Amino acid sequence: MHEIARSIKEIILDKKGVDFPCHEVEYTIFANKEILPRVPNTVRGQHIFFLHPLQFPDPNIALMKMLLTNDALSRASVAGITLVTPYIPYLRQDRKSAPRQPISARMVADLIESNRKVEHLITIDMHADQEQGFFSIPVDNLTSMPLFAEYFKKHFDGDFSNVRVAAPDFGAVIRARRFAHKLGDVPILIVEKHRSALNVVETMSLIGDRNIAGTDVVMFDDMIDTGGTARNMVKALKGLGAREVYLSTTHGLFSSGAESTFKDAGIPVICTNSIPREKQYLEENPWLTVVPIENMLADAMFEASLIGGSVSKLNI
Ligand code: R5P
Repeated sequence: MHEIARSIKEIILDKKGVDFPCHEVEYTIFANKEILPRVPNTVRGQHIFFLHPLQFPDPNIALMKMLLTNDALSRASVAGITLVTPYIPYLRQDRKSAPRQPISARMVADLIESNRKVEHLITIDMHADQEQGFFSIPVDNLTSMPLFAEYFKKHFDGDFSNVRVAAPDFGAVIRARRFAHKLGDVPILIVEKHRSALNVVETMSLIGDRNIAGTDVVMFDDMIDTGGTARNMVKALKGLGAREVYLSTTHGLFSSGAESTFKDAGIPVICTNSIPREKQYLEENPWLTVVPIENMLADAMFEASLIGGSVSKLNI
């Protein structure tokens, strides 16, 4: 994430002529796995944009690192913290789907707000827009949709006459509709997904015009995790004769060896770098195209730093 932070600093300097210090928090891990963050420079009285990925090495450790760093920053007398976490884990657990379960998304929001210096959150494509309501602080929930629209405009040379947009489940319908509208009101297909167990997608049926033989279908979803949803959807769409299925997603988690699925099946996947990957990872996985978020985050952070700044114009 530090590389992303550095490019954001350069973009803001370049576009707005505004310079500011950019530091990397140091983390020491003790033998028993306790974490000790240290902010390397004085931050007294300053407003801090704390850019933190909440996925590596796993969401639980990443959350703990974030909480401890917030504590370090507030004890170092910062004026306030804007937390910039492009991906927030646990947001899929936004309700009790069985008795005696937690509402983990709400608990993560409470944890973030447990430090009173955290005044503002900037994120990208929360699992469900209404989860902003789990927070009391202002949340700027950006969307990567304009980035993907730009990508596909180039890819299809601005001609979407042979393109369809697919929503991989009911939860993705609103997002897919907005995306289809952005591409020029292309027809959408909705997949009805049923999970027989956690992380296992079993049955799927399609809603919409099934006459898709020879078309290119673009899926747009907030995340690909194990790839089960996406893989089954590709199978269903190819079964109906789709020429190519492109999987576009904001957060490429790629758990449980999802990589080999996409590699072996030659399925093109396009994701953002909301979950930053090493150069080597990208070289080893040529099926993956990364659409960078730095420019969008730089604009959002700059606007958020202004009195009267506007972030909503970025989501158009
Ligand atoms: C579900 O509601 C999400 O939006 C994703 O479709 C889902 O979590 C992806 O998970 P997986 O890749 O493991 O099927």
